Amino acid sequence: MESHRSHNSVLWIVVLTSSIICVHLLTTSAEWLGDLSDYELASLDNPDILDEPQRRASKFNHFTMSDHGDVYVGAVNWLYRLNSSLKMIQNVSTCNDSRPDSAIPCHLTNNYNKILVVDSTRPNSLITCGGVYDGICQLRQLQDIRNVMMESYPYVGGFEDASTVSLIAPGRGGNQMMYVAVTYTGKNVEPGGRFQAISRKSIQNYPFLSAPEIDTILFRVATEVFVINYVAAFDFKGFTYFVALQKEDLNSAQFVSKINRVCQDGPNLDAYTEITLQCSGSDGSVYSLVQAAHFGPAGPDLAASLGLHADEQVLYAVFTRNQGAPGTSDVPIDHSALCVYRMTDILAAFR
Ligand SMILES: *[C@@H]1O[C@H](CO)[C@@H](O)[C@H](O)[C@H]1NC(C)=O
Ligand SMILES: *[C@@H]1O[C@H](CO)[C@@H](O)[C@H](O)[C@H]1NC(C)=O
Ligand SMILES: *[C@@H]1O[C@H](CO)[C@@H](O)[C@H](O)[C@H]1NC(C)=O
Repeated sequence: MESHRSHNSVLWIVVLTSSIICVHLLTTSAEWLGDLSDYELASLDNPDILDEPQRRASKFNHFTMSDHGDVYVGAVNWLYRLNSSLKMIQNVSTCNDSRPDSAIPCHLTNNYNKILVVDSTRPNSLITCGGVYDGICQLRQLQDIRNVMMESYPYVGGFEDASTVSLIAPGRGGNQMMYVAVTYTGKNVEPGGRFQAISRKSIQNYPFLSAPEIDTILFRVATEVFVINYVAAFDFKGFTYFVALQKEDLNSAQFVSKINRVCQDGPNLDAYTEITLQCSGSDGSVYSLVQAAHFGPAGPDLAASLGLHADEQVLYAVFTRNQGAPGTSDVPIDHSALCVYRMTDILAAFR
């Protein structure tokens, strides 16, 4: 894992569009250069890489932090706990070939970390989900990740290359629930052909991380094959938001980036709406493909340079251009841009 923030010629050029609204938010640019030696670095050797480079086992999947400042890393077949100086203090394999539900030796399939969330509703608890063992999750102790306290209902995260984003946020009646959005790949389908694209899972009731049908947005496989590549999830004032890369609609060939949202207090997830996110360069070039996003306050430096309040909530999103004419493919090329959206403008676009 590496951490750095040396951005060259970062673009701060932002356009937010929906089908009806087109708002130009900020048109200015900033450049930051940082020295890598100013930052803590950690590198972890994954013994499962062996000598087969094509075996994507080195993949770092997720990281999260506890209130104590410890850093948790979910990687293929391994979980790591680092202290706040990024020194590894614990590791645990997520492979267990002795399990009754272990179909194939784990090192052949690889257990991708799909979900890694600190369970803030319980003391000392971390939810980890992998792509093997039917997508079962574990509730582990933050202070001893080897210690599994509980296992979940199956089919929580996606499998292998299915992107999965998740967070804990209020649900029906204000109870904390875990929201999960999973990309359809054709493999991650429940028996019966159901595929839960977005769901919210119970973290307090039994079975752990189960979701009744009212708390899911289902695809019936074979009739609707629509790939939504989720890159981030966040919670803001009564809604859970998902940032995604997808086709514009079922009949479109155009790839666009979107923010989808569901209402937290509704009886179900039917109140699903979306807007399109656009990120354009100063030369008019279109960065169609969102790759990553982070939601948080602007902070004093960015706020000063962009004329915002330091505590104003913004969405940072990294986009790339695509191969071919803008939006005609989802194959990223070597040109990227960081766009920053004010949450107030995103809210306005949803109205
Ligand atoms: C992290 O662990 C290293 C090695 O055990 C130790 O030297 C360092 O002081 C620890 N840092 C913190 C903040 O606890
Ligand atoms: C796990 O930790 C042990 C003890 O520090 C170390 O020897 C081993 O290499 C680590 N394994 C991984 C996969 O990082
Ligand atoms: C592996 O699974 C077996 C069977 O369920 C269980 O008894 C054992 O404790 C597990 N090992 C680890 C390290 O979790």
